[in-house]
Amino acid sequence: SQIKPLVAGNWKMNGHRAQLATFAQMCRGVGPALAKSVDVMICPPATLIYSLAAAAVGERIAVGAQDCHAAASGAHTGDLSAEMLADCGARAVILGHSERRADHGETDRSVNGKALAAWRAGLTAIICVGETEAERKAGRAVEVVSGQLAGSVPEGARSDNTVIAYEPVWAIGTGLTPTADDVEEMHREIRSRLCASFGDHGKDMRILYGGSVKPGNAKELMAVANVNGALVGGASLKTDDFLGILDAYR
Ligand code: G3H
Repeated sequence: SQIKPLVAGNWKMNGHRAQLATFAQMCRGVGPALAKSVDVMICPPATLIYSLAAAAVGERIAVGAQDCHAAASGAHTGDLSAEMLADCGARAVILGHSERRADHGETDRSVNGKALAAWRAGLTAIICVGETEAERKAGRAVEVVSGQLAGSVPEGARSDNTVIAYEPVWAIGTGLTPTADDVEEMHREIRSRLCASFGDHGKDMRILYGGSVKPGNAKELMAVANVNGALVGGASLKTDDFLGILDAYR
């Protein structure tokens, strides 16, 4: 397809200022040739957004955030607005990650409001969906993901302001991945729903796969139809692993 893939690393709650050197190493490892074939992003903890954005050698790696509040400012102790993240150099924000849905009670409705906030601040919303193991075993995976898409992705989503990340919850941090056939089926389903809701924008919107992506399986997963990149957790913390995943696009 002509969709430029995106590989985004989600550092989750990992990383101190010492990891600035790791990030600079990653930027050098990406190089101008690779940057032409794939967009690369790291989403560090909010404490590191500003310094990573300042250290993004040649801007070969964009910087993103992991969550935002729906409001632009106000009495919300401990929260960060999309405008603040953009002000620090973030270009995108991950929303509705299953860890936030589980730990902070985020719902499709709250994710929807945060996506609108991201757009308002000029950020790309990376909206996460994915079924649990119990839901998959019950044969409800497609139904669950479709419901999350319908609820979490606001009307007016465009291919240049929205990315979907399909992350089966049981594949996150477990070393387990769905089969290529299962990934293909789910991504085809997501694509058809995006096309039905957003027309040509749905056709061009990036759909990332996430969940135990490693150098050893990236090539196979990234070759699946309608997989337009990856959302990488654990393997995005180490330069060799992250660059090894990016090799799928070399
Ligand atoms: O956002 C990233 C995902 O939760 C995947 O994490 O690559 O460590 O399985 P993982």
